[in-house]
Amino acid sequence: MLELDDVTYRYPGYARHALDGVDLAIRDGEVVGLTGPNGSGKSTLCLVASGLAPAAVGGELGGEVRVDGATLRGLRPHQLAGRTGLVFANAEAQRTRVAATVFEEVAFGAVNLGLPVAETVARTRAALTALGIDELAERHPARLSGGQAQLVAIASMLAMRPRHVALDEPVAELDGPGRRLVADALRALSATGTGLLVAEHDLDLLATLASQVVEMRDGRIERMGPPAEVPGPSAEAPRDALPPVADNPATEVAIRCEGLAYDYPDGTRALDGIDLSIQAGERVAIVGRNGSGKTTLVRTWNGLLRPTSGTVEIAGQSTAGQHVAALARSLGLTFQDPDHQIFARTCRDEVAFGARNVGPARGDLDAAVNEALEAVGLAREAGTNPYDLGPSRRRLLALASVLAMRTPIVVLDEPTMGLDPNERARVEVIVAALAAAGRTVVAITHDEQFVGAAFQRVVRLTSGRVIADSRVATVEPKTPPAAR
Ligand SMILES: Nc1ncnc2c1ncn2[C@@H]1O[C@H](COP(=O)(O)OP(=O)(O)OP(=O)(O)O)[C@@H](O)[C@H]1O
Ligand SMILES: [Mg+2]
Repeated sequence: MLELDDVTYRYPGYARHALDGVDLAIRDGEVVGLTGPNGSGKSTLCLVASGLAPAAVGGELGGEVRVDGATLRGLRPHQLAGRTGLVFANAEAQRTRVAATVFEEVAFGAVNLGLPVAETVARTRAALTALGIDELAERHPARLSGGQAQLVAIASMLAMRPRHVALDEPVAELDGPGRRLVADALRALSATGTGLLVAEHDLDLLATLASQVVEMRDGRIERMGPPAEVPGPSAEAPRDALPPVADNPATEVAIRCEGLAYDYPDGTRALDGIDLSIQAGERVAIVGRNGSGKTTLVRTWNGLLRPTSGTVEIAGQSTAGQHVAALARSLGLTFQDPDHQIFARTCRDEVAFGARNVGPARGDLDAAVNEALEAVGLAREAGTNPYDLGPSRRRLLALASVLAMRTPIVVLDEPTMGLDPNERARVEVIVAALAAAGRTVVAITHDEQFVGAAFQRVVRLTSGRVIADSRVATVEPKTPPAAR
């Protein structure tokens, strides 16, 4: 049994309590779901329940966290292994950085538990198979798609078989089949007696897994009960701040790929002959399984990756010979992991950076930055350090940076990942507003609800090829944004 008894927690350097009077018990083999708006304390509760806060993070803990009646207080991080485990929302934060292959990465924790070699190998194989990633075993763990990396992080936890595990949005980056494999693996793990705490916005998924769902608000437990009795946070209508209108409309064909192939330096063929044409003003969703080539495709569009063969044209011009900075005038791209994009000390500087280099003329720069921050709901955080925002708001900040560039083409790599219902509604409004202003919007997503709400056309990739390309009837957005 994992017990939290009147737990309060404060991060180092903060006056505010991130958790405030939390009582929770997870029995052996029980799955408890954790939901609530971003910023409500879900990730902190995962850290505290696994003992990593304060053991690894620092900060100040009040109350008690106990496993099988024994307090975790005073245990060092390595002493927690085997008792508790944590799967981070960001797989990159969890990666060991010492393993040369996925197999070694998954085996690492089990090896450190001092298990016999044969047992470690058996557990590692079983974990890879459970998550459908056997074929990644010999790959380098840093050279994977976002979803593949998330599966590797979960497999590493499975191989350790801890008594209790907290998982912070374990399926946020996964496609449908990947989600089902993770749900099955977690069910199997709980059947062996492991207690699980699963933070997740997808209440349908929690309903298939959890016996109890806890809803957090402002560091406290707001509600707790069987999944059917916890409706989860509802979306309030976002204020309709308008992203800026393009002052340089794209030519007729915004994006054209012909025979496009891309091989990574390690020989992995990620794109295998893509023929695709996107008209100016279209709203296109790119979908497909983890590792199907979605991120690779859009990275060829802004020149971050150069085709191995075939061609890419943006706004009528081949990308060959065009610099990343030149392409950025036509096409703005947000990254799947916003932390690969963010570097400035304040939100305002972050959003101004790209705009200053490629975007609106000087006089309009402040207006563009303010509008973009307003559109994503971060106007009041202009002076805040991006790393003091939670991960979902950093994702919105990265979106604001691209909006402020006022490019005719806007490409978003998984813009709703990890967002709560309010934040997601905001992104839907932004896509509609961009479209109303004549901009081309392309988004990579696993989020079917987002596809239905915001896009007209769906392009599906499999193994680096387009296998389906269809128009969909969109539910037209309820708040039609007026063009300026
Ligand atoms: N840096 C890299 N080096 C080698 N191979 C890579 C690298 N990055 C990605 N790959 C491989 O290229 C293929 C396509 O990956 P990509 O990131 O484009 O997929 P994706 O469709 O965006 O997946 P996800 O939904 O998980 O983000 C996969 O087989 C992946 O393992
Ligand atoms: Mg991707």
